[in-house]
Amino acid sequence: MEWKEIYKSRVVSPDDAVSNIKNGDRIVLGHAAGEPITIMEALVNNKEKFEDVEIDHMIALGESGYAKLGMEKHFNYNSLFVGSPTRDAVNSGRADYTPCFFHEIPRLFKCNYLPVDVAIVQVSTPDKHGFCSFGVSNDYIKPATECAKIVIAEVNDKMPRILGDNFIHVSDIDYIVETSHPIIELKPAKIGDVEKAIGKHCASLIQDGDTLQLGIGAIPDAVLLFLKDKKDLGIHSEMISDGVVELVEAGVITNKKKSYHPGKIVVTFLMGTKRLYDFVDDNPMIEMYSVDYVNDPRVVMKNSNMVAINSCVQIDLMGQICSESVGINQISGVGGQVDFVRGVGKCQGGRSIIAISSTAAKGKISKIVPILDKGAAITTTRNDVDYVITEYGIARLRGKTLKERARQLIGIAHPNFREELIKEFENRFHTKY
Ligand code: COA
Repeated sequence: MEWKEIYKSRVVSPDDAVSNIKNGDRIVLGHAAGEPITIMEALVNNKEKFEDVEIDHMIALGESGYAKLGMEKHFNYNSLFVGSPTRDAVNSGRADYTPCFFHEIPRLFKCNYLPVDVAIVQVSTPDKHGFCSFGVSNDYIKPATECAKIVIAEVNDKMPRILGDNFIHVSDIDYIVETSHPIIELKPAKIGDVEKAIGKHCASLIQDGDTLQLGIGAIPDAVLLFLKDKKDLGIHSEMISDGVVELVEAGVITNKKKSYHPGKIVVTFLMGTKRLYDFVDDNPMIEMYSVDYVNDPRVVMKNSNMVAINSCVQIDLMGQICSESVGINQISGVGGQVDFVRGVGKCQGGRSIIAISSTAAKGKISKIVPILDKGAAITTTRNDVDYVITEYGIARLRGKTLKERARQLIGIAHPNFREELIKEFENRFHTKY
């Protein structure tokens, strides 16, 4: 059968699409800006028909109706990365979290740690050969479609067609729901004086020709503000957002000096505004691959002169980094932090930066602490940590002793907390600070 006929024969309504889900199934949902919002809505509207259906996904930007109070009768929500819409569900016990490196999620699906019954995704309209692009989110989604028993796709004419290994043929989709809605937008984070100071320090470690990985939040965006006078930067990153567009348009990001995939921005998902989505559409500079490729430390390390910039919640005086919980409360996940910290750690000329504001809770809490909060998860170990940056400066911990690390970290802590940290230093090391 010609692909156009296959396509037509598989178009169904959202309600009909979700009627193929059985009690006890595990559903893997597309996430971030690629959330299949129409089908998710149908799933929640039909909740009375479901019992014990597991839903697995990462970043929640939309409604996340299946995680709301009362939904636990119908859905077991298994978060692979907790976000503000899903924090309450996980920390109140009606949902759960699975610790996992981002690059290993496809393996969890494909090697039956988490067998996938149904993959629900959002894709672009098909091209003349019958291939739909996964658009803004490839990461674990393409791999999930490759091992799911049933694939349900929301075909959205607003989804950009992004190149790379980022396509699914209509013959591999079992049920198609046609939609036309704007892609979820993530507005640029607010950048204040603290973020600017951190951005300046980070920029001082970046040289012409470097390849960058940028994590989530205001800090990576602030770093980009200070890179306007650099030359021939490249990108190999888990995600990108609007800041990258500006630097490509200014001729700063050219990818020409990359040792791996020269000339190309390599990325596994992206979130931003319509400006970003228009920029990536059919753009030969952008290559999307699944996360088990982009984030695999063995792939990351093929880039030379790579700089990874990520953030955290707390760091102790030994350099142990918690990026995902406040005490026992899970507030996000490991995501790709360790994938890149480890990959960049092995790159020729690699530099890995953890960039944070020195305080949280409007200055009431220091992020640099003697001991991590009880129950905090260690995301990046003290053996992996390299640079730590706050608005007060740069600490380099790799190759440093415990005393040297503590001294450097106290030196970049907020002045209001230094006295207490010095007391801890002197008690612990029986040495004058
Ligand atoms: N003590 C108590 N609460 C703290 C805290 C601390 N030390 N540090 C942060 N928080 C709270 C904030 O107040 C905020 O609460 P709110 O949402 O109720 O306002 C919440 O935790 C998130 O902190 P914030 O500083 O706003 O987060 P961010 O958007 O700058 O992101 C991380 C920071 C660490 C959460 C984020 O970078 C992350 O999830 N990292 C792990 C994954 C990763 O690095 N991936 C990299 C590749 S993309």
